[in-house]
Amino acid sequence: MENTIIWESPSNIALIKYWGKMGEQLPCNPSLSMSLKASVSRFELSYSLKKEGDKDLVYLFEGKENNAFEEKLSRFIASLSNDLPCLGRYRLKILSSNTFPHSAGIASSASAMSALALCLCSMQEAIDEMEMPRDFFLQKASRIARLGSGSASRSVFGQYAIWGEVEGQTESSNYFAIPFKENIHPVFQELQDTILMIDSSPKKVSSTAGHGLMKNHPYADARFHQARLNMADLLLVLEEGDFDKFARIVENEALSLHGLMMSSNPSYTLLKPNTLTAIDRIKAFRDANQLPLCFTLDAGPNIHLLYPKADEKVIQNFIQEELLELLEDGKYIQDGMGNGPTRIK
Ligand code: PMV
Repeated sequence: MENTIIWESPSNIALIKYWGKMGEQLPCNPSLSMSLKASVSRFELSYSLKKEGDKDLVYLFEGKENNAFEEKLSRFIASLSNDLPCLGRYRLKILSSNTFPHSAGIASSASAMSALALCLCSMQEAIDEMEMPRDFFLQKASRIARLGSGSASRSVFGQYAIWGEVEGQTESSNYFAIPFKENIHPVFQELQDTILMIDSSPKKVSSTAGHGLMKNHPYADARFHQARLNMADLLLVLEEGDFDKFARIVENEALSLHGLMMSSNPSYTLLKPNTLTAIDRIKAFRDANQLPLCFTLDAGPNIHLLYPKADEKVIQNFIQEELLELLEDGKYIQDGMGNGPTRIK
């Protein structure tokens, strides 16, 4: 008999960046992210008892074979036998799809690995015929997601999530993410994220290689210290509601991430000329209009424009009038803060 579990899980955008890892996918500094709403991965996991000669895993992405990712998933799932002892006895079929295009500046590994981790934890529950307490379930899913992709640990939760030990956040851990829910100021409760597509060509340097370059980076210690300070400040700002301070911290994090890439050995740049032109225009527009608006960047040239829901209209006008011409085929994705994964089946 075959059973099927379906989860949809969002991507997230880091406001405090994770860049540099140690041990078994543990972060060198804590990070904080906002989970997105529209940019999600859907994972459909079907399982049935393995018979002799059965392949362990069949994987299709948007209906098509993807051997490279199938092998990656196979290795990942095989490495989870201690956490999820049920896995060895079943053959798995996984169908996945994303609501967002590839290379759009949206971390598909975060949404994919979190959706997969949730499916696998639900499968364990179904086989054991026993539901785990909700908090325990999410913590386990976050830990497993982390092993697949560090930033995926945060996508298991909606709104804001922290991954990595933070002073004063007693529940925080390097092993899994936790939700950050403490009295978030209304201005940050329904943050909008317009993802401006500057360039969708595939990255020259993977995140894994980028993390690796932090190992001998001359600024590594200073960076990990900076991230801790920015984290402490941002946690206060999220409660106080000061958008100017928020913008200063979030933009400092984004540009520091790219500064680290530009100053590593070997160095590389992911920003494009239009990224810089757009950043200049965003700052000029903000200064001229005194509006709550800021940008962040993932490991790529595309810009995440963040602003409160209340200012949506005027900022949409600004995008149309001043930014559209800088975008690849005029493309952008309208997204915003979401409430986390949903179990569909
Ligand atoms: O989760 P990874 O290994 O793909 O690394 C993600 C790193 C950044 O996206 C650049 C920052 C972050 O914290 O999400």
